[in-house]
Amino acid sequence: MEPEYLYNRLTVHFLEQLQNQKISSMVRKSIQPYKELMSYYSCAMMEVEMKFKVLSEELSMRDDRNPIESIRTRLKTPESIREKMVRKGYPLTVESIEENLHDIAGVRVICSFPSDIYTLAEALLKQDDVRLIEKKDYIKHPKANGYRSLHLIVEIPIFLHDHKKTMKVEVQLRTISMDWWASLEQTIRYKKDLPDSDFIEKELNECAEMGAAMDARMERLYGMVWEGNRDL
Ligand code: GTP
Ligand code: MG
Repeated sequence: MEPEYLYNRLTVHFLEQLQNQKISSMVRKSIQPYKELMSYYSCAMMEVEMKFKVLSEELSMRDDRNPIESIRTRLKTPESIREKMVRKGYPLTVESIEENLHDIAGVRVICSFPSDIYTLAEALLKQDDVRLIEKKDYIKHPKANGYRSLHLIVEIPIFLHDHKKTMKVEVQLRTISMDWWASLEQTIRYKKDLPDSDFIEKELNECAEMGAAMDARMERLYGMVWEGNRDL
């Protein structure tokens, strides 16, 4: 191989490497604010989860039973954030994501009985560092397909090393039966653009109503056995 040719190849390779490094450092710098925002959401999610764990501990002592069956947390994925921002026509900037999306950090609390949902929501909202932004009660007002849950968007502070930041978290509270229904309903319509079908909606709604009836019946039984409420 000609020395000059080799020299040229090496120079091109070296310049390419340099360019790649520059690009990757530029990319790294530009996604840093996004990564920071996601880490703040993650902290806020942990704060809210911990608040429910504390409530669960205290209420378990008081009532000799745990009002919370389980807690699940999730951070919206970058793809899902992007999809929602584009769908809603918001600009794809970190500021706009923070301002417009209220469900990046999600905490789902699965409760034993319907009344536990309201006890826990009330106890959370009474805390002086929690501010209610929005409340949707799909238990008192179920969706047409039968979906039931209590949704809260709350704002809570997170304490960083040199400042305090307020973050939004979406909290969904539901019973085991509401969760079971939501999970199966999602499986049924997963990846299918279901045509508007009165039949499917009616079936789903009937199943949701059966779930609600079972919830009420189980809670009544609990009241009879443990609280002596024979006339409930
Ligand atoms: P988006 O957040 O844009 O979806 O609209 P929104 O804020 O009006 O939604 P809403 O608060 O009503 O519900 C948001 C979340 O509740 C969804 O991401 C689901 O987790 C859950 N959800 C709402 N409706 C349904 C439903 O019909 N079936 C199931 N399985 N989950 C639902
Ligand atoms: Mg939402």
